Amino acid sequence: MSIRSERKEEHLKLAQMFFNKQKYNSFDQLHLLRPALPETKVDTQTLGVEMFKKRVSAPFFINAMTGGSQKSKAVNKALGHVAAKENIAFALGSASILAKEKNQLDSFYVAREENPDGVLMVNVNPETPIDATKRIIHELKADALQIHLNTVQEIAMPEGDRNFLWLDHIKEMREQIDIPIIIKEVGFGLDAATIHTLKNIGIQYFDIAGSGGTNFAQIENARNSRDVSYLEDIGLPTVVSALMAKKEDVSFIVSGGVRNPLDVLKGLALGGQYVGISNVFLQEYNQNGTEGLEKLISAWKNELAGLIAVYGQSSLASLPQIKKYYDLPLKSQIDQLL
Ligand code: FNR
Repeated sequence: MSIRSERKEEHLKLAQMFFNKQKYNSFDQLHLLRPALPETKVDTQTLGVEMFKKRVSAPFFINAMTGGSQKSKAVNKALGHVAAKENIAFALGSASILAKEKNQLDSFYVAREENPDGVLMVNVNPETPIDATKRIIHELKADALQIHLNTVQEIAMPEGDRNFLWLDHIKEMREQIDIPIIIKEVGFGLDAATIHTLKNIGIQYFDIAGSGGTNFAQIENARNSRDVSYLEDIGLPTVVSALMAKKEDVSFIVSGGVRNPLDVLKGLALGGQYVGISNVFLQEYNQNGTEGLEKLISAWKNELAGLIAVYGQSSLASLPQIKKYYDLPLKSQIDQLL
């Protein structure tokens, strides 16, 4: 197995080992005001939404995780299957490995095979050559391209990148790639200045991927002989990062630490167009297989529709109007940063 494939398998193993569903995060410090007399009724039809020119059944999706190894192939096949069954979008993990190891295409393609008509996003690092990226998009019939920014993860990895001069290449990708591009973090959050810079070069979509869920400093620390656990707490909390994206007036996805349908509602109330979930869905699949994950996603749809009605709303478009209030530690961060 190549070093890259081995790393993918270690990430899957460690994401499971460190999974902690109940972990307290910034969503717990954000509250939404609820009318006791909402004058609404529960309707799952309100969840349907357009995503990259296709119709999906819900505004939440399975976010980027894996590809590029035997175990990833099985995971992508299963997640692709569930995404098709439930008609929600699915983002593959980084396919940059395909620039060097074309024989790994299968471990990504299985997801497209399982879900020929659904929304499928591909994911690359910001250094992936343009011709390889175009080939990946074409081969997987991708509906959108995620480019991940992961500096903290890279410095936590002894074998990681040490050159973060990425802007010119992202600009070139923007000019030469003709499907929507989403700039994405991996769990340390996008800040306002970064969003602003990228907005100015024509990037239209952002996945803020804030802190509070999967922590790649923790995962890489476990693969490392040196202790880099001091990197675990330097992320920007998901709620703060979402408020920054909102203020920059861009289209954005809320992700990082989404644990349940209430977190999804909060992400949408913050102004996120969609909400991405990675490890919670992966661990449901690990524990209860494709059937378990299908059931969970179907339950989340019903519960989210229930919450929308309870919070006095009858469409996704009106959710940002829900009154929000914050616990003081989070309020203090917001006051200092926004
Ligand atoms: C990830 N994530 C990720 N992100 C990315 O852009 N490219 C990638 O290849 C991967 N790989 C990956 C592997 C595994 C096993 C996990 C759990 C996660 C990060 C992911 O998309 C997301 O941003 C973070 O996991 C935060 O979301 P959750 O897990 O807290 O919902």
